[in-house]
Parts: sequence; structure tokens; C-alpha cells
Amino acid sequence: MTVKTHKIAAIGGDGIGVEVVDACLEVLDALAERDGGFALETTNFDWSTDRYKRTGEFMPKDGADQLRAFDAILFGAVGAPDVPDHLTLWGLRLSICQPLDQYANVRPTRMLPGITSPLRGVDRTELDWVIVRENSEGEYAGQGGRSHPGLPIEVATDVSIFTRAGVERIIRYAFQLAQKRPRKLLTVVTKSNAQRHGMVLWDQIAAEVAQDFPDVTWDKMLVDAMTVRMVMHPDSLDTIVATNLHADILSDLAAALSGSIGVAPTANLNPERDTPSMFEPIHGSAFDITGKGVANPVATFWTAAMMLEHLGEKPAADRLMAAVESVTADPSLHTPDLGGKATTRAVTDAVIAAIRGRN
Ligand code: NAI
Ligand code: MG
Repeated sequence: MTVKTHKIAAIGGDGIGVEVVDACLEVLDALAERDGGFALETTNFDWSTDRYKRTGEFMPKDGADQLRAFDAILFGAVGAPDVPDHLTLWGLRLSICQPLDQYANVRPTRMLPGITSPLRGVDRTELDWVIVRENSEGEYAGQGGRSHPGLPIEVATDVSIFTRAGVERIIRYAFQLAQKRPRKLLTVVTKSNAQRHGMVLWDQIAAEVAQDFPDVTWDKMLVDAMTVRMVMHPDSLDTIVATNLHADILSDLAAALSGSIGVAPTANLNPERDTPSMFEPIHGSAFDITGKGVANPVATFWTAAMMLEHLGEKPAADRLMAAVESVTADPSLHTPDLGGKATTRAVTDAVIAAIRGRN
């Protein structure tokens, strides 16, 4: 059998990001060993806030270019209590996503076995969504500035950028994804009553692209009303597409509704595969629990399954998710964010044992 080698760049980053990525690399090794059909060649990068404090840079100037040599990127989280968050986010995560044009941020949400939703009475059949977040422009395009610092006339602007090309490609991606899912249902989220330019463009482009997908049922929601619908009628939703900011917020709500932010994964995709895509948990570096050994690694394991699927290793991805689900089904293997007492180590060992078929 020919063994295909995938080159993975691993960037743990800060705080629990390092802990969950280390755990995930152990799990991936066990999977590759068990599968036998592929190998992973992992390169670790120490790009982080620590590096910034030492050198003045989160990553080298050509960091994003260095990553082009890899097949995929596994990312933890970036952020530290003593460095402003806008420096860390732009210094590392956005400095990778934007130059590599990972424009589709895909965030599946469903309730894993054994995990309950804070929504009273909601079961697994009623909450199964994929949120597609525009990941290259919109509110996070980086346009804006500050003038007259400290003076009474100080001014600050953050300008949202919506391009026809950028909006059309993400909406088309969302329609394609909705078409592949059993319910073929898409909800396009905007705020086109108050934001009467960019958001109206979204609505128009959605209606245009919809013509190419007659088998997909779609509707429109305003983002504020969407929060209500997610809580009150979760079963009425399936695939969801929204702007960079709106989907950022909605997907944290989605993560909480599915049980914990500690189980929520995401993929930053370049769907054309011109560049490597990046896989990460939704959560941040969680300095409140860093070093305690209790970070939930499930979100990172799930994103690793998305990475394997992207790399064409679907059987290994399925095996990983089956192992993760067998572990979440056992409440004695829940970490404190899920109301349990398990450690990162215990969850990781249990997932590895399930992969090896010993439990
Ligand atoms: P956070 O996601 O780090 O933590 C929020 C809460 O959820 C905390 O109570 C934390 O303990 C808990 N939590 C998060 N992940 C968990 C896990 N795997 N297991 C158990 N509990 C978990 O968000 P927060 O506190 O707003 O941000 C902390 C830092 O992370 C900030 O510097 C922020 O900018 C950064 N951040 C980075 C992200 C990234 O790199 N993609 C995403 C979100 C935040
Ligand atoms: Mg967020």
C-alpha cells in the first residue's frame, strides 16, 4: 500500500491553545498508525505572544509564505492577558487567514452524544447546523484609522468592506454546502434594514446566486432576530451564512447552545485549494484555566477530523469522530466546562484508546 504523507504545520499559540494542539498531535499520530494508509509530517511553530514579547513579532515577516509549503495548518489560539487583543489577533491569526485567502470559515454545530444543551428540552435531532462565516473582508477588512489621539476631536473609524466578488463567493460556497446536506436549507443573515448599502448588496447577491440552486430552500433573517430563532426554534435552521462579524457572534452563541465552547470546531478554508487551509477550535487561549490540565480538547479533535476530511482521509476522519463521540457519551470523561471532573490527559487517552479499538 502506498503511504501518502501530509505535511502539517502546528501552531499552538498561547495558553490552552498549546495544550489542546499537543493533545491533538498525539491523537493524530495514533490515527495515522491505526490507518496505515497515510502519514503526517508535522512541523511545530512557536509563533505566539511569547515570541512577540521576545522579538517584537508574533511570527516572521514571511510567516504566511512559509505556511504555503504545507498541506494544512492546525492552530490553537492566540491571546495573552498583558498584550492587547487587537495586536494578537492581527499579529497572528488574521495575518495567516487573510494572505492565504482562507475566505470560508466553516463552523459545524451539533450536540455530541452525552452532552446536553442549556436549552431546555432540546435534543440532538433539533440542533444540527453549519455556520459559514465570511472570513476575508466585511467588518474585519482592517480598513479605518484613528486621528487626533487624546484630543476632544479624536476620531476612530472601522470601515466595513463588502465586494461583489467577496460576497458572491461566500454565498455560493454556502449554497453548495447547503445542497450537500440532507435538508438543503440555507438561511442568509444580514442587517439590511439598518445597514443599507453592504447588507443590501448581500441580499441582492443571495437572490442572484439562489437562481443556480433551485433545489435549495433559502430564507433571509436579520441578525438580531436570528439570535431569537436560534434559541426558540433551533430545528428550523440548517446551513447559515453571515458576515465576518455577525457569524463570529452567532457561532459563539451556537457553541454555547450545543453544550460548551470547548467542543466547537472551525475550519478556515480556501475552497479552491490554492493555499493550505487552517483548522482550529473556536475558543481562545482561556488564561483562566491555562496550566491546570483541564482544557477540553474535543473542539480541537473535531477540527482535526475536518482537517483529515479536507486532506482526503475520510475514513480516518470518521474513525476520529466515532472515537470522540464514544468518549463524550461517557460523563465520567467530561471536562469541567461540561460539568465533569476529567482532565485533558484523561480525555486524550480515552480517545486514543477508542481509536486503537481498546474500549
Ligand atoms: P476563551 O474562549 O479563551 O474563554 C472563554 C471561556 O471559555 C473561559 O472561561 C474559558 O475557560 C472557557 N473555555 C474556552 N475554551 C475552553 C476549553 N477548550 N475547555 C474548557 N473551557 C474553555 O475566550 P476569552 O476569555 O474571551 O479570550 C481569552 C483570550 O483568547 C483573549 O486574548 C482573546 O483575544 C483570545 N481569543 C483568541 C481566539 C483565537 O485565537 N482564535 C478566539 C477567541 C479568543
Ligand atoms: Mg469569536
